Amino acid sequence: MVNLEVKLKDLILKNPVMTASGTFGYGEEFEDFIDISQLGGIVVKGTTRHHREGNPYPRMAETPSGMLNAVGLQNKGVEYFCNTIYPRIKHYNTNILVNVSGSVIEDYVETAAMINELDKIPAIELNISCPNVKEGGMAFGTNCASAASVVREVRKVYKKHLMVKLSPNVTDISEIAKAAEAEGADSVSLINTLLGMAIDAETRKPLLSTVTGGLSGPCVKPVALRMVWQVFNAVKIPIVGLGGIMNAKDAIEFILAGASAIQIGTANFIDPQVSVKVVEGIKEYMIRHQVENLTDLIGAIKEQ
Ligand SMILES: Cc1cc2nc3c(=O)[nH]c(=O)nc-3n(C[C@H](O)[C@H](O)[C@H](O)COP(=O)(O)O)c2cc1C
Repeated sequence: MVNLEVKLKDLILKNPVMTASGTFGYGEEFEDFIDISQLGGIVVKGTTRHHREGNPYPRMAETPSGMLNAVGLQNKGVEYFCNTIYPRIKHYNTNILVNVSGSVIEDYVETAAMINELDKIPAIELNISCPNVKEGGMAFGTNCASAASVVREVRKVYKKHLMVKLSPNVTDISEIAKAAEAEGADSVSLINTLLGMAIDAETRKPLLSTVTGGLSGPCVKPVALRMVWQVFNAVKIPIVGLGGIMNAKDAIEFILAGASAIQIGTANFIDPQVSVKVVEGIKEYMIRHQVENLTDLIGAIKEQ
């Protein structure tokens, strides 16, 4: 028997596998493919204070070993989430995290305060790192002072587990992680997408309406892994690692680099069952390497 349970401070996950925001809808879209209760947690779509249409089309493009997106946080707003979506998904026997996004601090605070009232939501993931929203998002996560101020204000109203999602579009991600930790974040998740761009040489047009967008998928994995390792060496709070995880081997690499849990994003579009396959694959790895507790693998990378 192997023990896959991990604790992100007060938040207990039956295994370290979660799904990433924006790639798993509200979970309902995946009910026909997997048993959601087999996952450690799901992070639902980016939720904002008010309804957002998102960016104009085209807002997705394929790139070598990855994809670009500029969805722009399309969602119906937090009231709709609380009144309509939450009652439909609250029975899931797993941790449901709401990804809270915003363009001004007041929006983050009001949204977080409303989610705080929902019994079956044990945590939020504060998205201070969305690269596809003109007025903000990433702007908060690319500067220590503004990252600190949004975490500080949300911490005042949000009483449960506060996970802060970090942007890779910075010079030193560990400085931002330290700022979030100092203001009371319970954990950090990284990485959000890397700012990228694609052009069609024939038409001479960019492939995205917004010209630039967020790059995700296997092409970002080495960058994400490096950042998880850097942050692991800089903070004491638990880390949730993501970026290009396609299988259990990738997930194990993030855990060895210092992640206590992982999220699967783009891979859900390729195989809707990938998340539960990763749970199984981690179990097999542990049996093969005679590791009893998953926690023994966290940060257990060896020296060269
Ligand atoms: C289509 C799409 C939508 C996304 N929407 C969100 C979002 O609403 N909030 C957020 O924090 N991250 C969002 N992300 C970023 C992912 O959650 C994840 O951080 C990123 O894609 C890297 O992981 P991956 O390479 O496994 O996809 C989105 C990514 C994609 C591809």
